[in-house]
Amino acid sequence: MCGIIGYVGKRDLASVLVAGLERLSYRGYDSSGIAVISKGELSAWKSEGKVQRLIDRYIKSIKISNATVGIGHTRWATHGEPTDINAHPQLSSDQKIGLVHNGIIENFAFLKKNLQPRYLFKSETDSEVAAHLIEAEFHRTHSFLQAFQKTLSQLEGTYALAIISEHDPQTLFAARLGSPLIIGLGEDENFIASDLVALIPHTRNFIYLADNEWAIISASEVQVYDQAGNRVKKAIKHLKINDSDLHQPAKGHFPHYMLKEIFDQPEILKRILSTYTSDEVELRFKSLAAHTDPLKKCEKFLIQACGTSWHAGLVAKYWLEEFAHISTEVDISSEFRYRKILARNHDILLALSQSGETADTLAGIREVRKLYNKLPVISFINRSETTMEHESDAIIPSLAGTEIGVASTKNYIAQLGTLFLFALYLGQLKGILTAAKIAEYLRAFAMLPALINKILAYRKTIKAISSRYATDKGFLFIGRGMNYPNALEGALKLKEISYLYAAGYAAGELKHGPIALIDENMPVIALIPHTSNYSKMMNNLEEVRSRKGRIIAIVTEGDKDVTAIADTVIPIPAIIEELSPLLTIIPLQLFAYDIAVALDRDVDQPKNLAKSVTVE
Ligand code: AGP
Repeated sequence: MCGIIGYVGKRDLASVLVAGLERLSYRGYDSSGIAVISKGELSAWKSEGKVQRLIDRYIKSIKISNATVGIGHTRWATHGEPTDINAHPQLSSDQKIGLVHNGIIENFAFLKKNLQPRYLFKSETDSEVAAHLIEAEFHRTHSFLQAFQKTLSQLEGTYALAIISEHDPQTLFAARLGSPLIIGLGEDENFIASDLVALIPHTRNFIYLADNEWAIISASEVQVYDQAGNRVKKAIKHLKINDSDLHQPAKGHFPHYMLKEIFDQPEILKRILSTYTSDEVELRFKSLAAHTDPLKKCEKFLIQACGTSWHAGLVAKYWLEEFAHISTEVDISSEFRYRKILARNHDILLALSQSGETADTLAGIREVRKLYNKLPVISFINRSETTMEHESDAIIPSLAGTEIGVASTKNYIAQLGTLFLFALYLGQLKGILTAAKIAEYLRAFAMLPALINKILAYRKTIKAISSRYATDKGFLFIGRGMNYPNALEGALKLKEISYLYAAGYAAGELKHGPIALIDENMPVIALIPHTSNYSKMMNNLEEVRSRKGRIIAIVTEGDKDVTAIADTVIPIPAIIEELSPLLTIIPLQLFAYDIAVALDRDVDQPKNLAKSVTVE
């Protein structure tokens, strides 16, 4: 996925575009670039690396005068390495057309074959083919608008496109199919971007392009058309954005956003408890008011998500089945959408996503809509105004606030917190949980912020432990029951930001193969708080120990048995089993962070990653 931005108006083009790219860099930061039309001529500057590199190499020194229109792009490479040549904007052979693209043009090889050798391709990207195709169609039709439309009719795959051209130097051309694209409306100026986060410093008024719509945007007018070329009247959405949305949260005294976001977690759980309960006694989910009947009758949940959100879904399965007696299937979205999805009348789809833009999870929702269009879709989303929100019947906000670190931490805790309370709510709705039982769970939930702070206060000790393992090359994470998903999540955190290999397993699975990996060179991080499967976990630790495995155990404070056999232990406060995943994850987040810092990794924007994966 990538971030695209476009502007037409009188402001300083380079600063509008570059500031927008910095706000969009969560979508990818392999390379970036801008192109503008000034005095009727198109110029482009682009560079591998982050937006700062583009600024240092070019933006600081260029002087752009009388520019009328411009586009910008920050990339997450799908086709072609992150190089200057493969950076966007991609240009036509005659350098008169500039284009930025988010998505994948699936039939680019076919189109490219038909355009070569007449049109000279420079990059390895799929996107470049669109620039040459417009040029070819312009040579045929001598109308840029017709060339634009004919090009759209030949592209297969997904795209959010922004195009400028010397043939129409006052106009921005935009089109959307499968990748988000928002138009921002100003006074004698207009904008487009992949995400309104790039536009909120300039406007509160937006038009959301739908799939197969395209637009012609000048400083004074926005015209939107459907696939057949019919003019479409679009609603203007006025967003009441509070100031907190305007500014990217500051890191404060923290060296990285990720560490700040780990430390934000206690406050987020307080916010979740006060939002989804009344006086911490009764559960309330206002956004579900119209869905209480299907929820009461629900016989099966289908959960689909990716990455960390998928791990949250795996934990939620335990709660939904225990508190609400609702059978729950949990799928990785990229698998879910291609399998034979079996659903019956009283089933409900739950989609979990921090960004609300993950292509695979959106595709899962669309597949279910196609197969079972009456099946309710409830999505747990953190960001607001997302594609997923517009395609769901109801949403439950995660309330984590803007998460900058690409490696998700505070949103994971927020997803767990909201899913736990959602499961209690269903137990309450279905009369399965008594008020006394609910109050008991909510009292335990209310303890979480203080208990997490207790672990965070232990930070220096955890850092000393982590740094002892920074030279190891591979790690196993093991857990059982509702702490098994945290073994997966702990491994993912470490992989994502330290680039070291790690694998998470259900501890009972070790003997079915992975135990072959165990020796003195393979640290094993074991989640073994005092829960119902403690003794089984002890057996697994003995299996590891008898093969000279080095054990780092997350234990309930005061534990003696594990301490006697582990290489080292990290204690967490005692808590009821059902909430233990919200504590055992904290040391794993810090462990991954400390090792990544010790290895001098780019913690907040690790290589090859992006915060929101909007390509399939
Ligand atoms: C988590 O640390 C990763 N950045 C990644 O696995 C992420 O959870 C996944 O891409 C899903 O994103 P979403 O929650 O925005 O859908």
